[in-house]
Amino acid sequence: MHINKLKNKIIHIIDENVNIEETLQVICDYLKDNINYYDWVGFYFKNGDKQELKLAQYTGKPTEHIIIPFGKGICGQVALTNKNFVVQDVSEQNNYISCGIAVKSEIVIPIFKNGENIGQIDIDSHQKSPFTKEDEKLLEFVCEQVATIYRS
Ligand code: SME
Repeated sequence: MHINKLKNKIIHIIDENVNIEETLQVICDYLKDNINYYDWVGFYFKNGDKQELKLAQYTGKPTEHIIIPFGKGICGQVALTNKNFVVQDVSEQNNYISCGIAVKSEIVIPIFKNGENIGQIDIDSHQKSPFTKEDEKLLEFVCEQVATIYRS
């Protein structure tokens, strides 16, 4: 992974930001197109005052999981734990919401704004055990950048 090149491009995308919806879509598309084991890339955000996540921009196969209650699935757990969740093999997880048989692994990184967990980036992969510390570092960086343009 060319992490510095990827980070520089993310900075560039954020700098060009005109509206957050378009920017998040460009980030999803860029990550999926440039990291071959990223097969679905999307952002979920806390849905107002509700204890649930709502899907925002994404790229990849459409999902029926637009709303995810806190605590449910990998995403819902990250909403409560505030911690990165790297799942190298989804078949070993009981609290998991499947988005299709092709998905073998998943990584979810929370987004913090003013210390509050406001959402997350979620990546699904069709490969088993593809994620390394580099993915976490890159995606933490993406989340920090997204927090700078997020307005609730
Ligand atoms: N697999 C997730 C659900 C969201 S999809 O991956 C798009 C989960 O277990 O929370």
